[in-house]
Amino acid sequence: MLSRQDELKNRVARTACDYVTRVLPPGSVLAVGTGSTVNFFVTALAAARLPLRGAVSSSEATTARLTEAGIEVLDPNTLDEDFALYVDGADEIDSRGYMIKGGGAALTREKILAARCREFVCIADQSKAVSVLGRFPVPIEVIPMAANHIARRFSAGEAAGAAGSPVARVRHGAHGGPLVTDNGQHILDVRGLQIHDPLAFESCVNNWPGVVTVGVFAHQRAHRSLLASETGVTETEYPGA
Ligand code: A5P
Repeated sequence: MLSRQDELKNRVARTACDYVTRVLPPGSVLAVGTGSTVNFFVTALAAARLPLRGAVSSSEATTARLTEAGIEVLDPNTLDEDFALYVDGADEIDSRGYMIKGGGAALTREKILAARCREFVCIADQSKAVSVLGRFPVPIEVIPMAANHIARRFSAGEAAGAAGSPVARVRHGAHGGPLVTDNGQHILDVRGLQIHDPLAFESCVNNWPGVVTVGVFAHQRAHRSLLASETGVTETEYPGA
């Protein structure tokens, strides 16, 4: 049986599938994110049997799910055109479509796809909506040899003007050790930040040597969100995105 939150994720995933069916022309390439909400979306996609040319994927985990669902996964490097639609979840989203992402460690590939799509549709349950980003620890993908130095910069308050508390993400399971991303890098999760200017925060931290990707999606914010609550799914378009 699904938990209440999973029922909401499933509901928004099915709404997103209907949206894709409505707006995506046959023969298109769909960009697909990562996470538990997206997993429901892939299940809905498989059932809908859309006439897609294929999908591009933001993680090894999503690639496996798409393949299992019978949807061909294409290499973005073989495609010259941008993708009409990118559907992905978020860990937080504010009223302007700015997001925190990377709870599933796929932030780098997610941002690459977000930068190549014409429309980013964020799907989530309502609990992800916030007024100020930062309650969820901000994931930062880093080159391992730079991890301690980057952590010290957050502790010293060099980003967002306030000190954050960085913690290296560890792998679940018997062997522990640092979590290694699909790109062979590590993740710092930074707690205690209140990000009032997501664009400035992202640009600032992006400039630190050794940072691969900042889990704040401001320059690549959502164009539209579908947020599920007990009363239904609310669709919001973000002007100018
Ligand atoms: C993956 O790296 C993340 O960006 C996900 O989009 C985010 O963590 C949302 O995941 P859930 O749908 O599992 O909450």
